[in-house]
Amino acid sequence: MRRRIKKIYLDYAATTPVDPRVVKVMLPYFSEKFGNTMSLHGFGQEAKQALEESRKVVADLMGAKSREIIFTSSTTESNNLVLKGIAFANKNEGRHIIISSIEHPCIVESAKWLEVQGFEITRLPVNKYGFINPDDVRKAIKKETILVSIIHASNEIGTIQPIKETGKICKEKRVYFHTDAVQSFGKISIDVNKMNIDLLSASSHKMYGPKGVACLFVREGTKIEPILHGGGQESGLRSSTINVPGIVGFAEACKISKKEMKKESQRLIKLRDKLIKGVLEKIKDARLNGHPKKRLPNNTNFWFEFVEGESIVIQLDLLGVAASTGSACSSAKLKPSHILLAIGLRPEEAHGSLRLSLGRWTTEKEINYTLKVLPEIIKKLRKISPFKKND
Ligand SMILES: Cc1ncc(COP(=O)(O)O)c(C=O)c1O
Repeated sequence: MRRRIKKIYLDYAATTPVDPRVVKVMLPYFSEKFGNTMSLHGFGQEAKQALEESRKVVADLMGAKSREIIFTSSTTESNNLVLKGIAFANKNEGRHIIISSIEHPCIVESAKWLEVQGFEITRLPVNKYGFINPDDVRKAIKKETILVSIIHASNEIGTIQPIKETGKICKEKRVYFHTDAVQSFGKISIDVNKMNIDLLSASSHKMYGPKGVACLFVREGTKIEPILHGGGQESGLRSSTINVPGIVGFAEACKISKKEMKKESQRLIKLRDKLIKGVLEKIKDARLNGHPKKRLPNNTNFWFEFVEGESIVIQLDLLGVAASTGSACSSAKLKPSHILLAIGLRPEEAHGSLRLSLGRWTTEKEINYTLKVLPEIIKKLRKISPFKKND
């Protein structure tokens, strides 16, 4: 009889399963309460009410006002809207935008596109842990600067940036401050007012809600242009028929996060630290990428000398463990991660990295199993490594 292989999911940073409690709340909105929020009849009004109640819940989790939340289809869309929408609405004030060197491709590529349109982009360096220096932000801001966009927590190495301090500088200098909080929203506490944030992107599918729905917090009074024009939904900032089931699901995921965040993050930090300690103790020539403590409760990212990340991921998959070399969007490109290069890894080192991201259903047994198979995999791969023959 074939041995049944365990299925262990350690790629929660790529996407999360939808919490069954979320699915339950969404179901009526597919076939019973299916109305279009723009319709005047009862079906429409029922959908509209669900939309507005959901908006309140999502806003509440970040300390925002309901009317400051715009629902979108993805963080890619939210981040495009921020960069392009702020750029075009404020181009008469200036054409300079500051980002970090460890942003997600949807910021990186939007910024590149804006450069072609005549905007100037400054990309701030990070230190070996992946932190920007708020002082660098202060120095980089000039008269023409209209926006600073810094990722809250890195999708690859989990580093949590000094957002509050950076926001304070932007506030003093009267420059809009955006943060991509997709990896942190629902996992650690966020308050847009206390943290001096003007725009914030968050997404449902990274926090046990459905895919196809995300949001953008836009502080009241912010000058921003839409990138989608049409029926005028979402205060004219994001025309499109509203994805009511998705938004209802996103809100339910937020409710659960609010209730369970503290306990869940404490549990995950314990498992995360056990995994980090175990890997570094059991495997020679291994290193942790990112900061040992100032990182997301669910993120680990390692570098192993003489082996390629892709080979580790394939071997782990054969033994039932789903992992990643970095961001899901970049893993198909087979290019070394720009984030790992930014923290100072050489290209060949950046290829030897492995991200194991934990989540709501990760158990200690799964961590123990991973700690058992991973050292064997590294040993096996090092034996056949063209860089080094023997462990
Ligand atoms: C930090 C960060 N920003 C943006 C995105 C893009 O999200 P999506 O592909 O859902 O639009 C991701 C997805 O992995 C992410 O981790």
